[in-house]
Amino acid sequence: MNSNVFDGRDYSSQSVYIKHVAEILEGRKAQVPKACVTTYGCQQNVSDSQHIKGLLIKMGYELTDSPEGADFILFNTCAVREHAEDRVWGNVGAMKKFKEKKPSLILAVCGCMVQQKKNAERFLKSYPYVDIIFGTQVTHRLPEFIYRRLSGERRICELTLDNGDIAEGVPFYNDGGFKGFVPIMYGCDNFCSYCIVPYVRGRERSRNSAAVTEDVKKLLAEGVKEIMLLGQNVNSYGKGLSEDINFAKLLRAVNAVPGDFRIRFMTSNPKDCTEELLDSMRDCKKVERHLHLPFQSGSDAVLSRMNRKYTAASYLEIISAARERMPDITFTSDIIVGFPDESEEDFEKTLELVRTVGFSALFTFIYSKRDGTPAAAMPDGVTRQQKGVRFDRLLRTQEEMAKRVLGGMVGKNVRVLCEEYSAGFVYGKDEHALNVKFAGDESLIGCFADVTVKSAGDILTGEMIKK
Ligand code: SAH
Ligand code: SF4
Ligand code: F3S
Repeated sequence: MNSNVFDGRDYSSQSVYIKHVAEILEGRKAQVPKACVTTYGCQQNVSDSQHIKGLLIKMGYELTDSPEGADFILFNTCAVREHAEDRVWGNVGAMKKFKEKKPSLILAVCGCMVQQKKNAERFLKSYPYVDIIFGTQVTHRLPEFIYRRLSGERRICELTLDNGDIAEGVPFYNDGGFKGFVPIMYGCDNFCSYCIVPYVRGRERSRNSAAVTEDVKKLLAEGVKEIMLLGQNVNSYGKGLSEDINFAKLLRAVNAVPGDFRIRFMTSNPKDCTEELLDSMRDCKKVERHLHLPFQSGSDAVLSRMNRKYTAASYLEIISAARERMPDITFTSDIIVGFPDESEEDFEKTLELVRTVGFSALFTFIYSKRDGTPAAAMPDGVTRQQKGVRFDRLLRTQEEMAKRVLGGMVGKNVRVLCEEYSAGFVYGKDEHALNVKFAGDESLIGCFADVTVKSAGDILTGEMIKK
């Protein structure tokens, strides 16, 4: 297993467990055992699930999308908002009937939600049919957990969050087609006052740059055309590493990997967005001309209570500095509406910022109280209804702005990574992360195509110039 050797803590033992599990499953085999993995939450979770799938394949499982008849079912959960959690309680509960039908089924729950003690306790107490519960920093130990379960241990609950070494070399299964995720760092140290992530993911830890570029090369060799570099705050990449590196330098290193591919990254925290990074973006031709830069609120008072450590003015300075270097750059952002005691004026400032910047798209959320975060203890005089009204106003403002941004693209030439084909049209994203469709055939899927934008509606419509 040389190409997937586990090095560092727990690795050698994991390859032994993989072998043991494979032997047990092989011995039982009436047919190939099936595993169904359901993922909630952000790209970090999707990436973790890809590692889980890689491990499952190594153990001899075949992946399936349906829990019906599966031998191993896993839910990789998210805790960022209440809604994300509610879905998990219901969906895990629905697995009880599968377990009754097939007692040998192993049911597992992992990810950010179970990393909170109260949730793990609820699973242990009220979901007796869940066999394995494991947290965000022990994902790579799945073979051991499955082995222990198969060897007769009734229940396994492993929630260690010790911020130890990153488990390198864990196999991963890319189910994203020609889009590949590469985590560059784990955890978060920012403690924005509303956010659960630092509590459930632990401290910030960066992967060394060689591990990152090696993953990039592996994905490119599989035919991947778009690399998404992942981290909760990619701009603080490199802290604590012995090599002389930061995110701006990492981008240059990934850009230097040979091949025709596009580089994207998520997420940038404005507080750490440097001119050096913008210079790197400008110089690196494989990096998309798009920046996802969540500002959360346009009000300095709210930003301060959110512990975001920047102001609306400093945010706008970054936007200008980026536009100076890359005039055609587009921006997207995350916004929270209805943070505790957000006043009408605070909210107006958010709308103003949305109008000033002109985002191509926004991810908008109504504030969700997360137990254990500082914001959960803040008084909140804003009613649910007021929050709903503001949310709708924000959406309407953004709709207008998006129309302008997309309208401004008409007549321009863009380079589209073709993702889907349907009824004579090819759909994909351009270098500005804008959705584009044009008349073409299925053979274009997975290729780049040069397209002239002819019109703009909800998405851009164009004509292909050349492949
Ligand atoms: N690390 C990223 C964000 C990850 S969470 C960053 O700092 O930009 C993705 C988004 O979820 C956040 O940007 C925020 O807009 C939203 N979010 C996080 N916690 C939330 C909460 N308690 N209620 C509502 N939205 C929240
Ligand atoms: Fe959450 Fe803030 Fe960290 Fe983003 S930077 S994950 S919003 S604490
Ligand atoms: Fe959710 Fe965890 Fe991501 S809380 S948003 S899955 S880091």
